[in-house]
Amino acid sequence: MKKPYPPIYYSDYLELEKLLTSQHPKSDEYGHHAHDEMLFIIIHQAYELWFKQIIHELISVKEMFAKENVDEKNIGIAISRLRRITVIQKVLIEQLNVIETMTPLDFLEFRDFLIPASGFQSYQFRIIENMLGLNIENRVKLDNKNYYSLVSDEHQKMLLESHDSGSIFEAVDKWLSRIPFMKNNNFNFWDHYKKAILEMADDEREIIMNNPSLTDEKREKQLKMSEETREKYVALLDEDKHNELVKKGERRLSYEATLAALFINLYRDEPILHLPFRFLTYLVDIDENFTTWRYKHALMVHRMIGAKVGTGGSSGHHYLMQTAEKHKVFKDLFDLPTYLIPRSSLPELPEELIKNLGFSFNLNNKE
Ligand code: HEM
Repeated sequence: MKKPYPPIYYSDYLELEKLLTSQHPKSDEYGHHAHDEMLFIIIHQAYELWFKQIIHELISVKEMFAKENVDEKNIGIAISRLRRITVIQKVLIEQLNVIETMTPLDFLEFRDFLIPASGFQSYQFRIIENMLGLNIENRVKLDNKNYYSLVSDEHQKMLLESHDSGSIFEAVDKWLSRIPFMKNNNFNFWDHYKKAILEMADDEREIIMNNPSLTDEKREKQLKMSEETREKYVALLDEDKHNELVKKGERRLSYEATLAALFINLYRDEPILHLPFRFLTYLVDIDENFTTWRYKHALMVHRMIGAKVGTGGSSGHHYLMQTAEKHKVFKDLFDLPTYLIPRSSLPELPEELIKNLGFSFNLNNKE
């Protein structure tokens, strides 16, 4: 029997009364009406609503991946939620065009009323950064102060909690380190891979040596670069070297996780690796979209306030450009293409392993 749910009214369900009476321009309060302040408030509120939705998706993905055994069914669900985040991010990037319809002169009409409030204090934006895995040490400091020092005590508590409760980066690192298919078989994939990638480095050196269009100076420069790349290849397969790079802050993923991510990228055509590959790709997409948003926001700020300092007290667009450059979380995944080799040079995997990576069904033994 159908449950007797009570009828509901559109405005009540969405609590529009609350939502639509939450815009209070300061310029009106101070008796200097500035037409564009309404846009300024609404656009920030719209962003905060989307931030809330992104956090909602991230919480569920983090829960799925924080488990000791990630249920394979959940990988598909996590992918669809990460994809949703990337689509929302496109809206967030596009939305900056709306605020750009306000001219710098119109902004000046009410800017001073806002000091010292700033998007810098958006605690939801910081929660997203923390949940993805942006570390305190990797953040650009504002006047040597930590990012949470400018928000209220209540918000500071929330930010520290979101920081301490573990990130998607950490969960993914552990998940990748546990992936079993590279172990438990006699075939040492990495010996074969090392041979293939060093051969590729030798070929590259050969091409530079024999390129008639290079001057001696240019040739020497290119050979030096090629040698540096070769050293990176060697370092990739040397756990101690990898850990030195982690200490220097040049790598962050654990050694095991880095190799697993590379394996997934190299053999993404194998059926069982499709979903892990798409999952890793969406993490990079999310990082890239936030970087794009940060750049576009920094450019908009430059146009809007020129070289002035921000209402939050930063150096304005200089500070914002630095965060765009430095606040990527999944840099290790961005770097992976350095170590890709063409499909034609990939070491052939033993049949047993291929079978484990595929979806095989045999009528006789129901394998
Ligand atoms: C006229 C429009 C805007 C101007 C002039 C502006 C300016 C600034 C400036 C100068 C900062 C650096 C901190 C400071 O010194 O205040 C900043 C940070 C920030 N703004 Fe905006 N902003 C504008 C619109 C927006 C909008 C629509 C959003 C959407 C939520 C936003 C979100 C943020 C965030 C999240 C930060 C922190 C970035 C970080 O630390 O990495 N801003 N903004």
